[in-house]
Amino acid sequence: MTVESGSHFANRSENAPHAKSSRLPGFYELAISQRREIIEDLAGFDGKQFEKFGDFSTLSSELVNVFIENGIGTMPMPLGVATNFHINGKDVLVPMAVEETSVLAAASHGAKLARMGGGFQTSSTLPIGTGQIQLYPHHDMDFDSILEAHKQELINLAHDGQQRLLARGGGVRDMRWRYIQEIKSLVIYIDVDTRDAMGANLINTICEKLSQRVEEIIPCEMGLRILTNLCDKRIAKARCRVPKDAFKNNDFTGSEVVDRIVKAYQFAAHDAYRAATHNKGVMNGIDPVVIATGNDWRAVEAGAHAYACRSGVYSPMTVWSKDENGDLIGEIEMPMALGTVGGVTTLHPTAQASLRLMGSPNAQQLGEIVVAVGLAQNLSALRALASEGIQRGHMSLHQGNIRLANQRAQH
Ligand code: MEV
Repeated sequence: MTVESGSHFANRSENAPHAKSSRLPGFYELAISQRREIIEDLAGFDGKQFEKFGDFSTLSSELVNVFIENGIGTMPMPLGVATNFHINGKDVLVPMAVEETSVLAAASHGAKLARMGGGFQTSSTLPIGTGQIQLYPHHDMDFDSILEAHKQELINLAHDGQQRLLARGGGVRDMRWRYIQEIKSLVIYIDVDTRDAMGANLINTICEKLSQRVEEIIPCEMGLRILTNLCDKRIAKARCRVPKDAFKNNDFTGSEVVDRIVKAYQFAAHDAYRAATHNKGVMNGIDPVVIATGNDWRAVEAGAHAYACRSGVYSPMTVWSKDENGDLIGEIEMPMALGTVGGVTTLHPTAQASLRLMGSPNAQQLGEIVVAVGLAQNLSALRALASEGIQRGHMSLHQGNIRLANQRAQH
């Protein structure tokens, strides 16, 4: 089922803060304390909520111990706010946790270019994750008739004990299966609407539970029971238009830059070596928001790269083209398995503050923001690569790192 939800902030809770404007010229030149004052004020946080961003060691030893085994400390990372994002008619301040110089600047710049064409339009499918039960049947049987006859019974079994999920509108949406001759394996796919949870634990629990009944129905050796990170029923999309004049610079006309960006995309579409780097640039935008919200970025990475290969050829995660006016059109679409409740997201104070900063989006809305950031990040990289190259901007921002490293080396 792929119901599009264009109404990005329709479910925003009444008292959630939201950015009055994400357009903050000169924000990058301010001191950290001044930036903090502005964001606190714009986002309507009370001081206590905002402190979650300011305490540079918000993760207590208690949380470290709960989150992982063998914990001995934390690995802090810078957290910043990307500006200029305008998504489905609303401004959004986007928290990003990342160590790479120039990611925040590039995301904000890409968002500024997209803003000139009206910002980002986004949509998403329902948050449906998929689990797999793999089995090695002892005999050849009519698997289609057997599983069709037991499908509803298995769905009911999956729902047993999941009253809270069902009350929130989630639950199993479909079951499919296929036989893989080469490995003599039957694989059952279970699609589950996990609502605002990322849902890995839920799906894995359902798979393990159903496998016990499946073994009774089909005599077999049981194989794996686990979710797939290629969650291609859980897709977020974003689109933007940038007027050609936005790209005009000393070396190129706006139209020339548009053409060069489209050619850069075509290079990635025809060369997997370039596609990998193109996509790394997309994930430069995606991962930091996923991390800032306490989500599983390895799951998002796995889904994104597998989906980029869905045609059988590893391809760019974004598509860039030119419209009839010669303006640049960008599109992105990828699986987005995110949660806004449960696990680390609920317990981590900075993840909570990050979600609040974005207006407390639900999981689907968060996925839409995340892909818009990926598109902005890619736009910014391609614009630089297609004109002056990236090293000028990157190295001027990187100077601070080099200076500090040299100073430390001398002491
Ligand atoms: C660097 O982190 C990302 C880029 O290499 C992306 C790209 O080449 O498109 C600049």
